[in-house]
Amino acid sequence: MASSGILVFIFTVLCICAVKSGFVKVECKAENVGHYGQQSLLECVVKTITDVTDPNIRMVAWKKLTSPEDEGDLVLGFNRGTLDEPRGQRGYRFAEPSWNEKNMNVSLLITNTAVADDGYYKCMVITDSGDGSMVTTLKVQARYSVPTVHSIPEKIVPNTESTLVCESRGGYPQGTICWFDAEKHEWTKSAKMEVTQSDDGLFQLTSRLSLLGGSTFSKYICAVFNASGGKEDEKTFDTNIPPPPPSSQGGERTASAYTSKVVAPLVVIGSLIIGLLLLLLYKRRSQKARRNSTAPLMDRRDAAPTDVEEGYNSHEDEPINQAQS
Ligand SMILES: *[C@@H]1O[C@H](CO)[C@@H](O)[C@H](O)[C@H]1NC(C)=O
Ligand SMILES: *[C@@H]1O[C@H](CO)[C@@H](O)[C@H](O)[C@H]1NC(C)=O
Repeated sequence: MASSGILVFIFTVLCICAVKSGFVKVECKAENVGHYGQQSLLECVVKTITDVTDPNIRMVAWKKLTSPEDEGDLVLGFNRGTLDEPRGQRGYRFAEPSWNEKNMNVSLLITNTAVADDGYYKCMVITDSGDGSMVTTLKVQARYSVPTVHSIPEKIVPNTESTLVCESRGGYPQGTICWFDAEKHEWTKSAKMEVTQSDDGLFQLTSRLSLLGGSTFSKYICAVFNASGGKEDEKTFDTNIPPPPPSSQGGERTASAYTSKVVAPLVVIGSLIIGLLLLLLYKRRSQKARRNSTAPLMDRRDAAPTDVEEGYNSHEDEPINQAQS
């Protein structure tokens, strides 16, 4: 008797547990994005299975966690008809304008998003048909300011060392600064970046690019990239240095300078070639002249030249002799 009573009890407990966990589910958007200083929405709704009619919410607890397993701190609560806003001033409320216990949309609205709001949140709900909870995240983003660039010294002197300083502030999460010249070659490796975080959690990026004398371009671009590698903004800085001499690569060339640079060597090479040709022509002519004068002499002197020499000579000299006669 006693054992069957225990069995019945266990069965009942199991049933109640099954009912409690099975009829209600909290469903949240896994990742929410919020913008610094604006409203952020953490979307969660309570889902009940179809045979639960007219469910009532008894309790809601929105907690901010420091890690997904953390107990967390209450930021917004509802318990048997009364709202609990422990940080009321900070502006956490139900997203639905006149939320009540019949409204299954329990989304959380953060009215003035701060960097500190970034992180994990847990939404716990108890209804008269069961309870459920889910963890969701808020990723806070803040846009970096348009960068400013200045040089040290203020006026860059050619062939002396100088530094370009680029600054951008007010961004989140941590971004990066890259340097390019006018032809989009990257110079970031010659720069050093410094990152500072202000009290409000926003980042300030400062990058210093060293310019070595003699290899300075006329323009440099400082570009700010956000944490996911998207370009936020850029600023072009004119060094007021004339384009580099032709021996060093890169730089801009004006059309006239370009033509003079190309034409000058062409003229030199051209006159050299013409000179060489004239020299060759002259040499050939004098050779021919010499041959013409020596050939008959050789014929007379060498009474019996070899067959090979004979044939060789005759072939070469024939047309010339003909032309001369
Ligand atoms: C919940 O309410 C918020 C605020 O009214 C709304 O933006 C959101 O779309 C709602 N979500 C659902 C799933 O109805
Ligand atoms: C980075 O910038 C891109 C393009 O502007 C944007 O789509 C993305 O959301 C930004 N990411 C962050 C973390 O700010």
